[in-house]
Amino acid sequence: MQFTPTMTGLNSPDPLQHAFKVKSAPHAGRSNVRPVNIDSAHWQQWWQQPSQASQRALYIHLPFCRKRCSFCNFFENGTNPEKVSHYADVLVEQLHIAADTPFAQSQPFDTVYVGGGTPTDMQAQEIGRLGQAIKRFNLVDDAEVTLEGRLNGLDDDKWLAATNNGFNRFSFGVQSFDTDVRIAAGRFDDKSNLLERLQQLSQHPTASVVIDLIFGLPGQTMDIWQQDLQAVLDSGVHGIDLYQLIGLQGSRMEHAKDKGKVIAPANNQFQADSQTRAQMYATGASHFESNGWQRLSSCHWRRDERERSIYNTLAKSGIEILPFGAGAGGSIHGHACMNGRDLKAWHQAHQHATTSTPVQVPQMMMTPNPKAQLDAIFKRGLDTGLLNLALLPTALANHLMPLFNKWQQNGLATVQQQQLELTLAGRFWNVNLQTGLFEFLAKNPPSNELAA
Ligand SMILES: C[S@@+](CC[C@H](N)C(=O)[O-])C[C@H]1O[C@@H](n2cnc3c(N)ncnc32)[C@H](O)[C@@H]1O
Ligand code: SF4
Repeated sequence: MQFTPTMTGLNSPDPLQHAFKVKSAPHAGRSNVRPVNIDSAHWQQWWQQPSQASQRALYIHLPFCRKRCSFCNFFENGTNPEKVSHYADVLVEQLHIAADTPFAQSQPFDTVYVGGGTPTDMQAQEIGRLGQAIKRFNLVDDAEVTLEGRLNGLDDDKWLAATNNGFNRFSFGVQSFDTDVRIAAGRFDDKSNLLERLQQLSQHPTASVVIDLIFGLPGQTMDIWQQDLQAVLDSGVHGIDLYQLIGLQGSRMEHAKDKGKVIAPANNQFQADSQTRAQMYATGASHFESNGWQRLSSCHWRRDERERSIYNTLAKSGIEILPFGAGAGGSIHGHACMNGRDLKAWHQAHQHATTSTPVQVPQMMMTPNPKAQLDAIFKRGLDTGLLNLALLPTALANHLMPLFNKWQQNGLATVQQQQLELTLAGRFWNVNLQTGLFEFLAKNPPSNELAA
């Protein structure tokens, strides 16, 4: 058997800080699919066929932001009210057409995610119309419908338009509450404004309000991180995502780094190294768990059951996701796909719109993943920190056992009675472990090729 440190991690007395050098990538995956061309006749036919999926979602993308935050490379187009309005009109029209097709109606949708970019940059009336368009789909009772965005610019009219038109979950990027860290990162509001607004919104009787924090931002010392964590409790929100800062290519932060500069608060140039980030993760996990919050995945905790995180959980299980909008990704009839990001090309495609089938926008479509079910078991298991080995074919579980034993020796997991459970260190490094598992299978293919 061939092992590499990127599969097994390093043997260290402190695996949380030293099992790997850096987080390998934002997400793990293996390349067992290739691009495929779906012609127009085939596309039309797809929308007439029933879905084979047992669980489904809609993903709707709003590729607009008012400002390019220093750490982020999701920025696609500057928010211009007229452009957003025109885009929202086309989107709503396409959703109406899609909702009425036999394909969409054949199976209900469990969850809907309106992400970006900054969907809360839409006007109140546009948010309301989008909510109504979503309701035309065959949704399960109590479907989770999320609107992503930021608090800045989310006035009462927008909040009411969203909550009155079916949105029942809100995911806001806060990143850090610290005003200096925020300003350096290109964020708008100060800590007191954010806290006050979150406290108001979280009092809604049913909606779930969740926020994202990043650890490792320039200027964010351990002290500031602890204040960030306390602010989450003070804000009254129902759920929290803790993301380690990733150096994303194309971000302002990475451009500055290439020139030997750091975009940090003027009075505080602190930059957490990988070991400090590991400690920040551990501090965050213990902060929420000791306050009675429940861990739903390696990076997501909830205060109570109002927060369900259905979209994020199911998306990792490889379910069918119908994508709408420029830059939206999903999976249709088993084919993973990604719509092109070019807004002009996306609009041009709609010049040929018909009333029976959603427009086929420029997109990258992949062949079905023959290992989709297995990959979903691996990804979901390692993401939640608990992999049920009984879900795997026995021969495959046995084949993987030497790798799992190495993880155990290196303090990343424990294996007991058909269960692989990640340790705190394993959860911190879970994307490396997912990548490592796929590397192990590529370098040590099981004798029964179909097994993995
Ligand atoms: C697509 S963004 C949308 C957020 C929203 N537009 C906002 O401004 O808060 C979703 C989340 O990705 C995370 N993210 C963006 N860049 C990141 C990076 N370089 N490292 C880690 N997480 C990042 C942030 O926490 C952000 O809230
Ligand atoms: S964090 Fe949000 S607002 Fe900032 S660039 Fe990324 S997507 Fe846009």
